[in-house]
Amino acid sequence: MIIAVDGPSASGKGTLARRLARHYGLKHLDTGALYRVTGLAVRLAGGDPADPVAAEAAARALDLSLLEHPDLRTEDAGAAASKVAAIPAVRAALLQFQRDFAHEAPGAVLDGRDIGTVVCPEADAKLFVVARADIRARRRFDELSARGDSVDYAAVLADIEARDARDSSRAVAPLAPADDALLLDTSELAIDAAFSEAVRLIESRIGSRHARP
Ligand code: DC
Repeated sequence: MIIAVDGPSASGKGTLARRLARHYGLKHLDTGALYRVTGLAVRLAGGDPADPVAAEAAARALDLSLLEHPDLRTEDAGAAASKVAAIPAVRAALLQFQRDFAHEAPGAVLDGRDIGTVVCPEADAKLFVVARADIRARRRFDELSARGDSVDYAAVLADIEARDARDSSRAVAPLAPADDALLLDTSELAIDAAFSEAVRLIESRIGSRHARP
């Protein structure tokens, strides 16, 4: 079974995807982390994440040890990820890794921007998770503050809006719901309520046969 969970930054898709994987006994892949690893690798080498040659080389080398790097979740790594993600050769280099992961037993939940449209158009169920930009900025602000980063709410909101614009307007695999995606708006939902709604939506597609006892 493959479940695709797409949506903009800080919509809650990562938390939902992890919980869905546990619920259905599937593996989980945070595909944004692959773009973050690629962007961070370019930055650490002193390069520009918007440089197609440097970015493609980093995507091909895909140094997964960087998944443990302390800067992986910073706003700067997110911005670098969004830049490398707009380069077609980077997306092509990361595509097979994601497909192979999805098709290994017992199946997987993948979260990202183009899982339902490009990576796994054959997914059994597709969620498109959204939330208002001000709410997403508040969540990201709280998360960064809790980690001890000194952040400014207005700057976080501006960054989220810039990333939305870049991720939605790029020529290749832009952020967009698949035609058969189920829409979940988490603006007014706490995580437990969002999770219950996600399960309800998924089971409206696949039935409840896959849930672990
Ligand atoms: O979900 P995230 O913030 O970790 O993602 C970082 C960036 O990676 C995001 O701005 C867009 C890009 N991305 C993408 O283009 N396609 C995906 N499947 C996942 C992420």
